[in-house]
Amino acid sequence: MLTIPEISPLKKLKSIAVLTSGGDAPGMNAAIRAVVRYGLAMGAEVHGVMKGYSGLLEGHIQPLHASSVANIIQRGGTILKTDRCEAFFKKSVRKEAANILRRKGIEGLVVIGGDGSFTGAHLMEKENGFPCIGVPGTIDNDIAGTEDTIGFDTAVNTAIDAIDRIRDTASSHDRIFLVEVMGRSSGWIAVQTGIGGGAETVLVPEFKENIQGITRLIDRGVDRGKTSSIIVVAEGYKPGLSQRIADDLSHRGYSPKVCILGHTQRGGTPTAHDRMLASVLGASAVAYLMAGKSGAMVGVQKGRVVLVPFRNVIGKKKDLDQSNLTLARILAS
Ligand code: F6P
Repeated sequence: MLTIPEISPLKKLKSIAVLTSGGDAPGMNAAIRAVVRYGLAMGAEVHGVMKGYSGLLEGHIQPLHASSVANIIQRGGTILKTDRCEAFFKKSVRKEAANILRRKGIEGLVVIGGDGSFTGAHLMEKENGFPCIGVPGTIDNDIAGTEDTIGFDTAVNTAIDAIDRIRDTASSHDRIFLVEVMGRSSGWIAVQTGIGGGAETVLVPEFKENIQGITRLIDRGVDRGKTSSIIVVAEGYKPGLSQRIADDLSHRGYSPKVCILGHTQRGGTPTAHDRMLASVLGASAVAYLMAGKSGAMVGVQKGRVVLVPFRNVIGKKKDLDQSNLTLARILAS
């Protein structure tokens, strides 16, 4: 089980803040709750910044108490709301943000989000000396330096649940379904969903195949007597790819259907796994901040919580293991 690392010596920060930024992910609320309650337990005041960096620039910052985060561990989304803030690309804007936090007496910031959110935190700290710690929160699981991100497990479970339902129709009508899952430019959700959902084929942007190769795989299944198939397509493979494959299959006598799961994967009750991950990472972020650490993300490596400098996270590619794609194919044969 993931545990909070022993971190010492402890330096007292009188006041810290937390914000969520980028796309919401199930489990963000559990992380906010952990930051608030762990921070309070360590004797700090904890503030919530509303609507990510945009809200920070507008000064939407409020004190959070233990009761402010009651009854949220099971809720998807983020009670602090979130945003993707273009203005934060500007150095002068980041300076103003650090000043706003300082004027409120805040001495450290926990940023729950992904690569873009960490870039903002990293630059704000580097340019203005304002301590920031990142907590990886994204359904995509595409953040370098951590094997897991908050929301990924829930998103995969949601997608598998959808595939289980789709399979009923696929098998009743002898149909091929192309199920498109999220993941931006990475195939992590697709591979895990494909294996867990027993898909016949998984298509990911990291290992591209041409359309002939894809249809060959489908034909092979048909030749083996399969009357229905589920093909999981990562959205980042190529825009419109699912429909192109479906059109191609229709011309060759199949009756394929395309189902884009889209934002259904972003919402919903976080799984037990995501709640635990969020609770441990949220608390660890506060503990590190209190120990005078910053400029880094808390992550998971080999089942343990680690602190990874932002420079080893931001803009880095998290490699997808091809062996799991192969496994998906072998298991579907
Ligand atoms: O990063 C999370 C994610 O859901 C991606 O999988 C997806 O490509 C993107 O966000 C969608 O963003 P938006 O909600 O802004 O359309």
